[in-house]
Amino acid sequence: AEIIIVKNAEAAGELAAEAILRLVARKPDAVLGVATGSTPLSTYQALARTVQAENLDLSAVRGFALDEYVGIPVEHPESYRSVITREVVEPLGLTPSLVHVPNGRLDGIQHAGDEYEAAIRAAGGVDLQILGIGRTGHIGFNEPGSSLASLTRTKTLTEQTRIDNARFFDSIDDVPTHCITQGLGTILRAEHLVLLAFGEAKADAVAAAVEGAVTSSQPGSVIQLHAHATVIVDEAAASKLA
Ligand code: F6R
Repeated sequence: AEIIIVKNAEAAGELAAEAILRLVARKPDAVLGVATGSTPLSTYQALARTVQAENLDLSAVRGFALDEYVGIPVEHPESYRSVITREVVEPLGLTPSLVHVPNGRLDGIQHAGDEYEAAIRAAGGVDLQILGIGRTGHIGFNEPGSSLASLTRTKTLTEQTRIDNARFFDSIDDVPTHCITQGLGTILRAEHLVLLAFGEAKADAVAAAVEGAVTSSQPGSVIQLHAHATVIVDEAAASKLA
């Protein structure tokens, strides 16, 4: 992977946003892989600023989220559908029907993974996938032990990830225990991976992903199998790189 160390999340967001804008300039209906959580926010904010300042039309851009919780209603403000709508679709002026999030509703959950894979294939695949990384080393919600070839499916969240995501909910008990996530195999099919990580809490996961063995116990390490992966980190997240 290409490793870029920047001062802070804002600088990283500018770089990631530039890559996305270059892609969209050449392919107005580009397929963006979008992540939730805190990490990509500076990217979305940088994009939104440029969209506003230059009056860009991103309405043909298509999107696929990495994951969704299972067991909370899609209307819940912290469902990833709600988060993607609020943080990506609305500020960037994307077309809601062109932005897909895995279906975490219990009815139909058996088919939701296959349907999501089919939708990604029908779109011609993801052009640029934004990734964060969890302290457990997960990308998407592929927790340690995920098959390197996995496709979109339901998974159990680790206790660590539920603790880390409790900040978005009233209490840890409200954090769902299950999710549906693109697999590591799904993520590897994207044309370009852009992995972002900030802060010391991510330093071990970043070092394992970038320099460790490729192993399902460090799911982020699959980026080493990808021919075009860019890792943008701040100094704290880079602090355990050799
Ligand atoms: C989000 C996702 C997760 C997060 C990761 C880091 O869609 O799939 O892998 O990217 O948990 O979360 P933050 O950015 O909140 O530290």
